Amino acid sequence: MGLASQNPTSLPNLFPFMNDSGILETRNTPGTALDLTGPFFQSLGTNGRTCETCHRAAQGWGVSANEVKQRFEQTQGLDPIFRTNDGSNCNHDIDTSSVGGRRKAYSLLTDKGLIRVTVDVPVTAEFNVIGVLNPYGCNEPVTLSMYRRPLPTTNLRFLSTLMRDGRESSPQTGTQKITFATNPADLVADLAHQAVDATNGHAQGTVPLTPAQQQAIVDFELSLSTAQAVDFKAGPLNANGATGGPVALSTVTTSAFFVGMNDPLGGNPHGTPFTPAIFDLFSAWTATPVAGRGRDDDGENRGPVDDSPAARRASIARGQALFNSKAIQITGVAGLNDDLNRVTIPGTCGTCHDSPNVGNHSVSAPLNIGVSDASSPLNLKYLPVIKLRNKVTGQIQVTSDPGRAMITGLWKDVGRFKGPILRGLASRAPYFHNGSADTLEAVIDFYNARFAVGITPQEKKDLVAFLKAL
Ligand code: HEC
Ligand code: HEC
Repeated sequence: MGLASQNPTSLPNLFPFMNDSGILETRNTPGTALDLTGPFFQSLGTNGRTCETCHRAAQGWGVSANEVKQRFEQTQGLDPIFRTNDGSNCNHDIDTSSVGGRRKAYSLLTDKGLIRVTVDVPVTAEFNVIGVLNPYGCNEPVTLSMYRRPLPTTNLRFLSTLMRDGRESSPQTGTQKITFATNPADLVADLAHQAVDATNGHAQGTVPLTPAQQQAIVDFELSLSTAQAVDFKAGPLNANGATGGPVALSTVTTSAFFVGMNDPLGGNPHGTPFTPAIFDLFSAWTATPVAGRGRDDDGENRGPVDDSPAARRASIARGQALFNSKAIQITGVAGLNDDLNRVTIPGTCGTCHDSPNVGNHSVSAPLNIGVSDASSPLNLKYLPVIKLRNKVTGQIQVTSDPGRAMITGLWKDVGRFKGPILRGLASRAPYFHNGSADTLEAVIDFYNARFAVGITPQEKKDLVAFLKAL
């Protein structure tokens, strides 16, 4: 059950939440106990849900599919997350009167942690929806049903756009784009607007939030910094000179972070060039090879290979170096290759995940890396097949989620999503907007297949060790 129901008033600062690879912690800015009595934890709508129903401290303020599954078993599918407005695969022609019926009706939520997000096709759209094959019956072509993972409500001061499709930072919805010139007022206003929409939508609210309630939710959200603090194999992630964990993250001041600060396309407002060294948290752990030990798959000496903390720390540091420097030939990515009119862009993970030590994009940059495309190397069989036709050219695109195009109506925005903040990942599987990567290993496999990166098994282990330590 939610924190508020276990402990009525507060959560100790840096409370340790265990996950598969270690311990996750949240620090709030004053560094005091977290108040669990505010509107974020209150039922403000009509269906019993609170923000915490889908945004949980233990899972980096997102929610993991495993936890939702446990919640189903504990409550026989009656916890407030199991509501038919957007928790079930479809909102009509379902039977939720028995446990068996609910198990079937909520299968995407328990298997993949997915919430049904509905958006109307914009009247000005450059495309028509010419077919929807939804395995669960929500085939309405005017209001599309899309299935998306909740995003973390922590580390939000680093956001350059709100929601996966940026819809809460878009003039089309009466919200505003997040820019260097207007930040953080733009973010604060967008978050206040989002809180109202979340209450009316997810919680089926009928009374609008008061300005004071909106402010309290935004203040709470913006006070949080969350990261993995301990890795079971490596030990504390801020030991031996490293700067992992939430305390170091919380000390990144607003002046040290600004919108566009590391944009690879020259978007830095001060003209500072892009640096591919995105993460430096674990630089102090860079391995010094130990003679005669630790030959990896290539027979190369990589330092200790035993299960010692030193070996794991070295692996995390190698993973960080790979993230910052492993060459990726970026092709066919809408939002990059088309906009720059270049067939191939030589890059790294950090070309797209460029915010220093945070890992989202430092300016709003919706990209289609192919996660929802019919041609995706991921298994998307559990998702709808949505067919779109360009009104002018007649061109067809087949996708499980048109993403940003449902907000702008633009053909070039089909399948574009924001890259989320890459902290606290270990606590909130599965990954990508549609939960199509069950593990971080599967995320790396996707990139390896999609961009033919040539990641070796050892490199995959190191990259995963690094991502789990964020
Ligand atoms: C039923 C589950 C559910 C509930 C309840 C819920 N959310 Fe969410 N939240 C989501 C989903 C799903 C997304 C991502 C949707 C998307 O991007 O299309 C999201 C995204 C967000 C984001 C965007 C973060 C980012 O990186 O862009 C914020 C902020 C947020 N929610 C705050 C709230 C607040 C505040 C409440 C309570 C008023 C709330 N949520 C209630 C499911 C939920
Ligand atoms: C061409 C741009 C691009 C490159 C290169 C790239 N990413 Fe991503 N990444 C994205 C986008 C966009 C998303 C969001 C995709 C979605 O949800 O559909 C994403 C999502 C992710 C996620 C999932 C986060 C979550 O919360 O679900 C992880 C983890 C990740 N990337 C890691 C990496 C790693 C590691 C590399 C290098 C091997 C990499 N990325 C290279 C653009 C990129």
